[in-house]
Amino acid sequence: MSVLPQTSESVALRFPTGFVWGAATASFQIEGSTTVDGRAESIWDVFCRRPGAVFNGDTGDPAADHYRRYVEDVELMSSLGLGAYRFSIAWPRLSDLGFYDRLVDELLDKGIAPWATLYHWDLPQSLEDKGGWTNRDTAYRFAEYAATAVGRLGDRVSGWLTLNEPWCAAFLGYGNGVHAPGVQDSRAAVAAAHHLNLAHGLAMSEIRAHAPDAPAGITLNLFPVHPATASEADADAARRVDGLQNRIFLDPVLRGEYPADLLADLAPFGLPELIEDGDLEVINAPIDLLGINYYRAYLVSAGDPVDGPTEWPGSSDVRFLQSGHPKTEMDWEVQPDGLTELLVSLTREYPGVPLYVTENGAAYPDTFTEDGEIRDTDRIAFLDGHLRASHTAIEQGADLRGYFCWTLLDNLEWAEGYAKRFGLVHVDFESQKRTLKESARWYSNVITHNGLPTTEG
Ligand code: FCB
Repeated sequence: MSVLPQTSESVALRFPTGFVWGAATASFQIEGSTTVDGRAESIWDVFCRRPGAVFNGDTGDPAADHYRRYVEDVELMSSLGLGAYRFSIAWPRLSDLGFYDRLVDELLDKGIAPWATLYHWDLPQSLEDKGGWTNRDTAYRFAEYAATAVGRLGDRVSGWLTLNEPWCAAFLGYGNGVHAPGVQDSRAAVAAAHHLNLAHGLAMSEIRAHAPDAPAGITLNLFPVHPATASEADADAARRVDGLQNRIFLDPVLRGEYPADLLADLAPFGLPELIEDGDLEVINAPIDLLGINYYRAYLVSAGDPVDGPTEWPGSSDVRFLQSGHPKTEMDWEVQPDGLTELLVSLTREYPGVPLYVTENGAAYPDTFTEDGEIRDTDRIAFLDGHLRASHTAIEQGADLRGYFCWTLLDNLEWAEGYAKRFGLVHVDFESQKRTLKESARWYSNVITHNGLPTTEG
């Protein structure tokens, strides 16, 4: 039976009452002000200085200057009618969390629910100097940081997420090295993945201790994975990629175990020896919600192993194929059906955990019209398609409770620098002028209707 209310004439698709509508950002991508108020250096500050690591030599300054302009930005969110705002706390700002205090108060003042992510990739460089996520001790340092941050903000934050996309932190950070800290070592990447899982579990117990009533969980970037053909080799490639991308986090967090096939695949990279007694119980701490960042699906086939750094330890033979959909500026195929598939299968395979899409969005080459507008119809079509796909998933039984668009403001898109724009709001990085794109107005209308309006709506 559908939990969805009836649609009225002006609303084509209505979402469940209480559905959370938000936008997401991340500290390093928008804040700027990387050297003020005692902020320590992060691995991304260091990585940005490495020649060739980040497009155009771009760095975390000025970003969207949000650290200084947060009042204006919260006003923007309010004008759009956002119900929730997902931001991340910069661990390197631990010595002075005043900014987040002020941000949270400003959000609450405008009736916007603050959702905080504890780790969106900006590890203090001082910890990287001791091995970063390859060092088990970093998980315990993360728990200490979590205790301080949640202790400070836990009375006002509506939802907590421990980690954002540990896959990227582990396999892009330590595997192929395209993200900070830029290490290229499969064993290191696997160690980072386990220690990130452990960090999540340890932080959950700090969140429970300091904010017992706030819902909390983790955000994963998940991908449906399909084999290109019915061959055994392609099916096995799909199984391995699903293990390395999805089940390596889902299974320990939600089932308290690493899948047997993944343990075997990663034995040559040391996974079994990394797991100490009690780790899986810690990682399996109950969560109240699962955050899903969805951008696209994977179509894979088996090929010949490729030498050199890889984000797929032991599976460098896997080829990622195009399936013929239109692409965004990131060269990512637009595959809204994959979101339906993912949400429905998560509720089926890992029942009992409410789901939130904590990121979904697209980069397109936005240009100003002569009258100073950005008519980003591609982005609107992308969001519309993915919201329809989300709605279909709910109709098919997925327990989806909210959707956060990636992202509020154009920002530093990691190794892509400022060149890729995902924002609902355009940012001129010279003048820091904000301009609402047409997609922002469109999304605002969706929020007002709690659904997708008809053209007349
Ligand atoms: C995700 C990241 C986010 C942003 C989007 C485009 O992987 O979590 O910070 O870069 O991709």
